[in-house]
Parts: sequence; structure tokens; C-alpha cells
Amino acid sequence: MRFINLFIILYVCSIGMTVSAQTWVVPDDQKTVVAPFLFTPEMQKQGEQIYLKNCQSCHGLMGKDNWAKLTPPPGDLSKELAQKQPDGELFYRITVGKAPMPEFRNILSEDERWWVIAYMRSYNPKYIQPNPATKASFAGRIVTLDMKYDDLGKKVVVTANEELKDGQSVHAAGVEVALFVKRFFGKLQVGELKTTNDKGLAIFEFPADLPGNKEGYVEVSAMVNDPKNIMKTTGAIATLAIGKPTDMPSLTEGRAWWATRGKAPVWIILTYTLSVIIVWGFIFYIVYSILKIRKVKKINL
Ligand code: HEC
Repeated sequence: MRFINLFIILYVCSIGMTVSAQTWVVPDDQKTVVAPFLFTPEMQKQGEQIYLKNCQSCHGLMGKDNWAKLTPPPGDLSKELAQKQPDGELFYRITVGKAPMPEFRNILSEDERWWVIAYMRSYNPKYIQPNPATKASFAGRIVTLDMKYDDLGKKVVVTANEELKDGQSVHAAGVEVALFVKRFFGKLQVGELKTTNDKGLAIFEFPADLPGNKEGYVEVSAMVNDPKNIMKTTGAIATLAIGKPTDMPSLTEGRAWWATRGKAPVWIILTYTLSVIIVWGFIFYIVYSILKIRKVKKINL
């Protein structure tokens, strides 16, 4: 057992070392990116919720230096090392991640990523937010996705529209789109990436046997695949009746390993109870023996 533990620790360390050997370079043009809006206390509150759900497991509570012992160390994001970086740099790191930190590109929307930064900055009294970028000053493409379900063809049709500098909206060609379905743990990509055609359309065939909820509904989201962050994008989310109705118990409904008390599997409860009884049995036995020894002594005297 010890050997296995040692092996696991060594293995994790070696992964950590190869990973930390890679650098986490932020492209120069990303460092200057600023949030598209002024941070408000509401955004900080939203950001806090997102932080607690998505980041705290590794980075710990803000200002408490209680981050998870990983290699490389995640560090406390309220501290100098993170706070001295400009907003664009933080945004880029959160967007692309670096193992073991996941990329949040498809997990959090752009706004949500900015809200987390708003929350992080609330721990830095010296922080002054740079002027928000106005839409007009954005040099890249501004793309919005829209999603429809074609019932006959059993296809999900995603339309990409682009806002031009003069405010006109046109179909956007050549935009890479990824489709996701929501599962228990985050989002799962379906099919390959598709590139929009001249009409701004990307069409996804849907697997017929995709499990949905009891009524066959599936939450589908479409996002622009833009690894270089050259576009300002808005994805689309819809709940579509395209899945196979599946009666899935929720993760916490049945007996499960990770459940607490009453919902743990019977064997865990039994083994646990048994070991508690044995341990206490031993303690009582020892106390009883000691008392017996003292009694024997008294008689002898
Ligand atoms: C699985 C663990 C994990 C999760 C979850 C995680 N991170 Fe990280 N994060 C790390 C690690 C490890 C590093 C250090 C990487 C390095 O320095 O090479 C890091 C680094 C960072 C950095 C750069 C800090 C610096 O000092 O340069 C930022 C910013 C950051 N994380 C933000 C976030 C945010 C925001 C979230 C949640 C949305 C998050 N992280 C979720 C593990 C995680």
C-alpha cells in the first residue's frame, strides 16, 4: 500500500515538473485587453459565486493562502504574484488555462471570466480599473451565434452574425463553431468543429441516441472556437427536445460513494461501523485489563 502511494506521489510530481517546465506566455496583444464594462459590486458578487464553484478547489479561499498542494502551486490570487498582472493577462490565463488548471474558454462565458477578475480585484485596494473597451474600439470581428433545431432533418443549425463597424449586421462566414451538450460534470463537445458557410450557417447532425432528461430535453450550447481571442463572441444556449428520454437519478439521489451518512453504500456504512466497534472494543479491553492489574496488586499487598 505504501509503495503504491509513493508511486502515485512520484508520478504526480513528475507530471507536475514536466508541466511547470513549459512556460505560460501571454501574447503581448492579449496583455492590453481590458474588460468591456466597469466592474460593479454586483459583478463582484457574481464573480465570487463563480470563484467558489470553479476555482476555490485549487486556489483556496481568497487571502487565506490555503491553496491546494499542486505542482506548480496555484497560489493565492489575492496576492502580489497574480495582482501585479494586468487584467488582460489574467483574462488570457483563465481563458486558456495550463495543466493542471483547466481552460475556462468553454466553461465560463466571457462576461463570467471578467466577473471573476472583478472579484479578484476586490482584494486589491491599489487596483484602478482601466477604461473599459468600447465596442467600436475593438479591432477584431464581433460575432453573435444563434441556434435553431431543424425537426425534419434532425439537425442543429447555428447561424453566425457579424456586426460591422457601421452597426450593420451580416451573416458571418468562416467562423469555427463548436457544439456542446450539458452533462453532469460540465459540457461535452458533440461532433467536430464546423466552419460557417457563406450564409453564416454551421449545421450539426445530432446523434440519435444522445441521452436527455426524463422528457428528452438536452441543453445545447454553441460557441465560437477562437483560440487566438481575435473575435468578440457571444454564444447561444437552448434547451432542445432532441435527446432520448432517460430517467437518470441525480448524482445525490441514490447511494453513492461520495454521498454522506444515510446515502453512502451499505458496505461503507458496515465497514465503518464495524471498525468503530472494534477500535472501541480494544480501548475498553485495555482499560479493563489495567483495572484488573490494579485489583490483583491490591490483593497481593
Ligand atoms: C485544477 C486546479 C485549478 C483550478 C480549478 C483553477 N486553477 Fe488557476 N491555477 C492553477 C495552477 C496549478 C496554477 C499555476 C500555474 C503555473 O504557475 O504554471 C494556476 C494559475 C492561475 C493564474 C495565474 C496566477 C499567477 O500567479 O500567474 C490565474 C490568474 C488563475 N490560475 C486563475 C484561476 C481562476 C480564475 C480559476 C477559476 C475560474 C482557476 N484559476 C481555477 C490551478 C487551478
